[in-house]
Amino acid sequence: MDMQVIPARSENYNLKDYQKVRENFKWDDVNKHFAWNETGKVNIAYEALDRHAENPAKKDKVALLYSAPDREEQLTFSDLSKQSNKFANVLKKHQVNKGDRVFLFMPRSPEFYAAFFGILKTGAIAGPLFEAFMEQAVRDRLQDSEASVLITTPELIERVPQDELPQLETVILVGEAGVAHTYIDYHTEMAGASEAFDIEWVDLEDGMLLHYTSGSTGKPKGVYHVHNAMIQHYATGEWVLDLKEDDVYWCTADPGWVTGTSYGIFAPWLHGVTNVIRGGRFTPDDWYETLEKNKITVWYTAPTALRMLVSHGEEALKKYDLLELRHIMSVGEPLNPEVVTWGLKAFNLRIHDTWWMTETGAQLIVNLPALEIRPGSMGKPIPGIVASIVDNEGNELPPNQMGNLAIKEGWPSMMRQIWNNPGKYESYFINGWYVSGDSAYRDEDGYFWFQGRLDDVINTSGERVGPFEVESKLIEHPAVAEAGVIGKPHPERGEIIKAFISLNEGYEKSDELLEEIRQFVKTGLSAHAAPREIEIRDSIPKTRSGKIMRRLLKSWELGLPTGDTSTLEE
Ligand code: WTA
Repeated sequence: MDMQVIPARSENYNLKDYQKVRENFKWDDVNKHFAWNETGKVNIAYEALDRHAENPAKKDKVALLYSAPDREEQLTFSDLSKQSNKFANVLKKHQVNKGDRVFLFMPRSPEFYAAFFGILKTGAIAGPLFEAFMEQAVRDRLQDSEASVLITTPELIERVPQDELPQLETVILVGEAGVAHTYIDYHTEMAGASEAFDIEWVDLEDGMLLHYTSGSTGKPKGVYHVHNAMIQHYATGEWVLDLKEDDVYWCTADPGWVTGTSYGIFAPWLHGVTNVIRGGRFTPDDWYETLEKNKITVWYTAPTALRMLVSHGEEALKKYDLLELRHIMSVGEPLNPEVVTWGLKAFNLRIHDTWWMTETGAQLIVNLPALEIRPGSMGKPIPGIVASIVDNEGNELPPNQMGNLAIKEGWPSMMRQIWNNPGKYESYFINGWYVSGDSAYRDEDGYFWFQGRLDDVINTSGERVGPFEVESKLIEHPAVAEAGVIGKPHPERGEIIKAFISLNEGYEKSDELLEEIRQFVKTGLSAHAAPREIEIRDSIPKTRSGKIMRRLLKSWELGLPTGDTSTLEE
């Protein structure tokens, strides 16, 4: 093949011989890394924190290196273990039991991580919500999950419509006083709580996490993960993140998204590695500063961020000393070959693409450090994973043929349910394959190449947005009669959200009206779901059964042939 390949460098990677490990690998081989393998007592919080806190050689090691413009803090494994014990006691005091849903709606902070593990220690299921969510997004998720406890802040509580959430019994606020005392104050409760807690031992198949994510139809769905996922978090932490004892690791994702939990929390701490947490959205200089100041060695980020760095220019990079950085990974959207080439020049490092989804719980197809990289390819399946390209009946297709990217079902971190929606869960599986909704092909050498989404899900700056959610919000605006929403290709953000709307009688097109509608979605749903472009049409194309024909809208937008329109309503 006459394509550019980037050979592995000669470092001592954790996974050196991909073929050999793959051929003999069984997931049970990973069990030996967990305390439960000896004791039979399971809880992911124990494996990620308490085990290290009980180890004299590890307990005073920095687990959480928190870095924000107005706050710097370091918590050791011992600190974090105790803080989460305290929070577990707070939850017990408020009658939280195994299996209850306890949601977090707050920015990244040391309190967030203590609370997150406190939840897991009670055997409850944690539901982290992205802090940028507005009322509608918060309501949908808390209603569907029937969460009984919410941990949030005085700033964000205004977006929680408590009168519409009868199941929500307890709200804990993390923040300064001055808030009406009908709420429970995090710091007061923590001050009175014991540092000792009898952790709730669970089954590997018990739930630990609900992440809401978008499909093309319907409201966001709750993807349910179980403690067993730790097996794959650990294995990929070793092979893909290449974590070693002295690493300082940084994952830029917010824990409201699956990358921010599987790889922003579990993988590094299961390995007992120092984990840098930095909140908020960053400018390119913030990224470089964070890498330099904390002497980060392993960095997991996203194509949108990397593309911003590329546009920021190499001069800017020269101001920083990033010599400690040794390993970079990317996830969430297609990683442009140009960015990989830029990375080689700018950092003298390869950027390793990784492919997976909220539903898969952990990485599946990746560029492993010890394998050559073919820029533009997501790489190969990790040991223990069988990936293929299948047709719509679940039959495997030969190399170089495009089709559904599919995974043989039954890996450790696979979702176990869609919350309250068994039919939806079943619909992912065909003929023994988990069908991802992505289209791809596999070359003769087993490298996978991403082609696009097969459904209407939009990927904007690596964030997954369901068009239905945005359309539903748009038509709540009094001026909007109908709405169809698509992803429009964009050089930096991957896609942006474009809405086509028709207006109700009595409304005239104007720039002010369009801006008002945009703001309506932004303040009602979330900033990343607000359409950057809105186009007014006399009507929105629908099928005879009333479904918005987003495909047709997209073809119009891109000037492509419109294909089969036989189902179009007159
Ligand atoms: C897309 C994020 C191209 C894909 C962990 C997938 C990617 C969806 C890649 C899942 C990649 C993820 N290359 N596309 N390396 N990684 N995607 O659930 O369309 O937020 O189905 O999970 O992002 O997004 P999610």
